[in-house]
Amino acid sequence: MDHQCKECMAPQIELDVNHMMADALGDKGICSCCVDKMKDAAAKAYQAVTENRGTGWLGWTELPYNQEEIVADIEKTAADVRRDFEAFVVLGIGGSALGPIAIQQALNHLHYNELPDGKRPGPRFYVEDNIDPERMAALFDVIDVQKTCFNIITKSGATAETMSQYLILSTALKEKVGEGWQKHIIATTDHEKGNLIRLAHQEGFKLFYIPASVGGRFSELSPVGLLPAAVCGIDIRGMLSGAKCMDNRCKSDDVWQNPALLEAVLQYICMQEMGRNVQVVMPYADSLKYMADWFCQLWAESLGKNVTRDGQPCNVGQTPTKALGVTDQHSQLQLYTEGPYDKVVTLMKVGSFRCTTEIPHGCDEFKDVAFLGGKTLNQLIEAERQGTEYALYKAGRMSQTITLPVVNAQTIGQLIYFLELTTAYAGELLNIDAFNQPGVEESKIASYAVLGNESEKYAKKREEMTHRAERKAKYIL
Ligand code: PA5
Repeated sequence: MDHQCKECMAPQIELDVNHMMADALGDKGICSCCVDKMKDAAAKAYQAVTENRGTGWLGWTELPYNQEEIVADIEKTAADVRRDFEAFVVLGIGGSALGPIAIQQALNHLHYNELPDGKRPGPRFYVEDNIDPERMAALFDVIDVQKTCFNIITKSGATAETMSQYLILSTALKEKVGEGWQKHIIATTDHEKGNLIRLAHQEGFKLFYIPASVGGRFSELSPVGLLPAAVCGIDIRGMLSGAKCMDNRCKSDDVWQNPALLEAVLQYICMQEMGRNVQVVMPYADSLKYMADWFCQLWAESLGKNVTRDGQPCNVGQTPTKALGVTDQHSQLQLYTEGPYDKVVTLMKVGSFRCTTEIPHGCDEFKDVAFLGGKTLNQLIEAERQGTEYALYKAGRMSQTITLPVVNAQTIGQLIYFLELTTAYAGELLNIDAFNQPGVEESKIASYAVLGNESEKYAKKREEMTHRAERKAKYIL
């Protein structure tokens, strides 16, 4: 493969599936003829995604191309935020939070908030993606509300977690800022649906829109992810250009030419034919730690479904779980190499880290310590990744490696688009709707019912909940 994009000359990420295949793993791997057998199904999945680009729930496919004005507005707004505020807080959950967290971790200093002013490319940055009361209180201990900008992100404009956070912070702003408090809020939401858009119009908040055809977990390359990234000094045009590169590389219905299609087919075989129902995503880089989290939501919420598109019952999906190399070698790897044959491990490798950390010479009297001297942590982490890959291979466990030659805006844009496309193709292969999440609704409605919402839907749910099997004292110790 080419290691550079022919158009923009950016380095390209690479997918290496050697250790998924029977050529390496014998009967514990996938025979290339099984991939060939899925040629037609793969081409059909490709066509379905390609023909519907930009429509229905596939609006995210066009985000690298159709946001010129929006990006200019984001950049201007981001510059204003950097000038006027010392902290920027994202309030959102799920697809409205995981992307901003992942991008910040990937593309900014690993101790960004602790950097002194002047060395930080933007204000201190927090993403509050939970409603733990202690966490919310803790936030107010470390920010000065009068110098903070809040970005409320909710596609539906109705998510209880985010809207309660809105009530808390808008009250704090009214108290502490008074007149002009609205200038401390930027809303990112749907054009029409939900309460946030109405509030935004009523109060005059600065607004960014999430296109109707872009679902929460596919929204990272929309203002959901771009605004927080731009505020923190990240090259958002580079991210979009990386996404374009990947889109170009995936313009083939030939499974052996299109990396996202190949990945979707391999994972389809893993889950549907080989019982590999768990995918461990294990980056060997702290910068990519939360990309794994972001992917876990994308893969789980998109593919975990109980009905096919034709209305047939099914229970499909592959459980994604994250691990961090090398930390989790000392926690999880024992299970991956000797536990049940139910997993496939996706290693993420960084070709060249953004700095080199040398290990000094010393401890000459201890040979096994002394040999580390003169090497670098860069060499050590890569050696450990190779060690894990080999241990998995030797134990007959499937693994694959996604290499980012460097972690930068371009390669992260490629990675995001690659994983989104893979998910969309996998949804087609499974013949399910990868863009809904009905399973999440039940818990939302039930929690509103518990909290005493009086509207009919929740009252009915409250009544229904009284009929569940009674808790027995003998099971509570
Ligand atoms: O992918 C999804 O659609 C969900 O995970 C949502 O992002 C999440 O439930 C938050 O929804 P909203 O952005 O509407 O507040």
